[in-house]
Amino acid sequence: MASAPSSRSAARAATIPNDLESFWMPFTANRAFKKAPRLIARAKDMHYITTDGRNIIDGTAGLWCCNAGHNRDSIVTAIQEQAAELDYAPAFQSGHPKAFELASRISALAPGDLDHVFFCNSGSEAVDTALKIALAYHAVRGEGARTRLIGRERGYHGVGFGGISVGGIVNNRRLFGTLLAGVDHLPATYNRAEQAFTKGEPEWGAHLADDLERIVALHDASTIAAVIVEPMAGSTGVLPAPKGYLKRLRAICDKYGILLIFDEVITGFGRLGFPFAAERYGVIPDLMTFAKGVTSGAVPMGGVVARKPVYEAFMRGPEHVVELFHGYTYSAHPLACAAGLATLDLYRREKLFERAYKLEAKFADAAMSLKGLPNVLDIRTVGLTAGIDLASLPDGVGKRGYAAMERAFHNEEVMIRVAGETIELTPPLIVSENEIDEIFDKVGKVIRAVA
Ligand SMILES: Cc1ncc(COP(=O)(O)O)c(C=O)c1O
Repeated sequence: MASAPSSRSAARAATIPNDLESFWMPFTANRAFKKAPRLIARAKDMHYITTDGRNIIDGTAGLWCCNAGHNRDSIVTAIQEQAAELDYAPAFQSGHPKAFELASRISALAPGDLDHVFFCNSGSEAVDTALKIALAYHAVRGEGARTRLIGRERGYHGVGFGGISVGGIVNNRRLFGTLLAGVDHLPATYNRAEQAFTKGEPEWGAHLADDLERIVALHDASTIAAVIVEPMAGSTGVLPAPKGYLKRLRAICDKYGILLIFDEVITGFGRLGFPFAAERYGVIPDLMTFAKGVTSGAVPMGGVVARKPVYEAFMRGPEHVVELFHGYTYSAHPLACAAGLATLDLYRREKLFERAYKLEAKFADAAMSLKGLPNVLDIRTVGLTAGIDLASLPDGVGKRGYAAMERAFHNEEVMIRVAGETIELTPPLIVSENEIDEIFDKVGKVIRAVA
């Protein structure tokens, strides 16, 4: 018997390899991609397997998220078992045990009194959640005039309206209207003349935190709710905070009663050799976002960790009343919580944060070995993260970077990430010393090939 037209066309769509039109791909050059697709069928540990059966070493932990590597057995099993046991439980006015367990595990990992966790589903949602908590915190304490939010040039805080407003990437902002009102920006911390080829935190640049004083003088502290920064700006090319910069920001925020938010969506869960960058830098923010590594990328999840006094400021008034009018249908989704618990177990069992810490020097040396290759203008490293700036081709910014990404995938069999002309390398924390050499060797070949 002939099958129904709908199921026949569904089967057809799944089997025709070059039917690529319907999917409008995110943050992708759709037309160029669809001419020479980079299609991944499977993954295991440090490798992807393409639809044509090639092994690609993962130099980027997915999108900085698969910190434990790919398709790890214990995470896969946890997700499978959870799907069979409890697919969903309403996140508002009811809960399920693993949500509470994961929140207390994350609180225990977070430094200081960062001990209350609000769950959402992505880094972008985490950022918007943190900004909303900051505004509401001041309002519930009777300081409702504190509505300004301060971000930083070259900051990336996802793609929600809050995130792009405090973010500092022109292409993410310019087509999207007026954004949030009352936002100002600190200057970016990168200066090539002062910092080129630095391993770890640059010596130069702590004074840039003092710009917050200028912003306070301009707007008055009584109008400023929060400052949000990434401890290491990732998406704009791996820009570690200069030595002492974050401590200075903390001090100025304390002086004026401004909340400090660290966006740890990338830096959380071991990327810089610590559970969170806050610990590496000895600075405790008032709110801290996370996502990505919490489930090693296996199920979408994000969240915000709040310091005790922030949470407690909301716990007043009649007890039957909702304290924060915010949340998502999929906050603390059971599959994400199961994946999160299994991921945290794996990080602990395999000591992956300590492993990243120990590999940092080796990783930095391997990255710096590419200094002197054609068009390499700067190399920066911190934790298991490297950014390599290439010179632009005369006929278009980003063209050499794009060529490098294509060459890496199709010819050298290494997955790299490119932001404009910057190659970013952020492998899973399970990467071995030999694999570090392999990744940088392949990237060196790519750089020569696109010279
Ligand atoms: C610092 C930072 N914040 C927020 C985000 C947004 O996360 P998502 O893509 O999960 O929304 C990212 C993503 O790379 C990020 O690096």
